[in-house]
Amino acid sequence: MSMGVKEAIAARHSVRAFARKPLTEGQITELLEAARNAPSSLNSQPWRFRVVTDAADIAWFGTSEASRKQSWLSGAAAIFLCCADLEHYVKDSQAAAFFYRDNDIITGEPMDGIDAYVAREAAAVEQAKFGACAMNVALAEAFLMLRAVEMGLGACWVGMFDEANIKARFGIPAGWRIVNILAVGTPDEPTVYPRKRKSLEEIVLK
Ligand SMILES: Cc1cc2nc3c(=O)[nH]c(=O)nc-3n(C[C@H](O)[C@H](O)[C@H](O)COP(=O)(O)O)c2cc1C
Repeated sequence: MSMGVKEAIAARHSVRAFARKPLTEGQITELLEAARNAPSSLNSQPWRFRVVTDAADIAWFGTSEASRKQSWLSGAAAIFLCCADLEHYVKDSQAAAFFYRDNDIITGEPMDGIDAYVAREAAAVEQAKFGACAMNVALAEAFLMLRAVEMGLGACWVGMFDEANIKARFGIPAGWRIVNILAVGTPDEPTVYPRKRKSLEEIVLK
């Protein structure tokens, strides 16, 4: 029986223990397809992925060189390096903006200042560009993580990692930044703790 989005959101949690079962090429493609279809600012799609499945590489991710020794990472079936392509972000944003403008998809005020907006983005310092790109990459990953749940897989976002070491080991292009890494596999968890969440009253301003 297929799972609805509501059920996938309810079931999703960070999985840090996995069965010794590799992902198939088909599964990896399905996950990437979910990410690829996410929305992005001016349709810039700055997300880039490198999917690591080699056993020696996966083992390396559990070391201090890669992840401050988050050793559970060595049990993942795959590690997705979730990257942002800062080099092509502005050009791709601009192309989409002109497409919207020329086809009257977005018209009027938002488009009046579009050249200035793109020029500002182009001139932005790297960290600002990284922030804008990372926002889009994170959205794509949310889609990927929910699709993983629907496929009976689990994932965990990992923000503690050594970007320079990972970039060097996997030949990540200089114009890309790694936003985070995602551990993915078939869950095999001894315990699943209830998720703690703030109440609606705490997060909604009335
Ligand atoms: C930006 C970000 C960074 C994270 N970094 C790590 C990490 O380095 N290691 C880890 O085990 N979990 C990491 N997590 C997972 C969170 O701990 C987890 O999402 C949070 O505790 C809520 O639990 P849940 O995902 O099970 O709902 C990260 C999550 C996010 C969104």
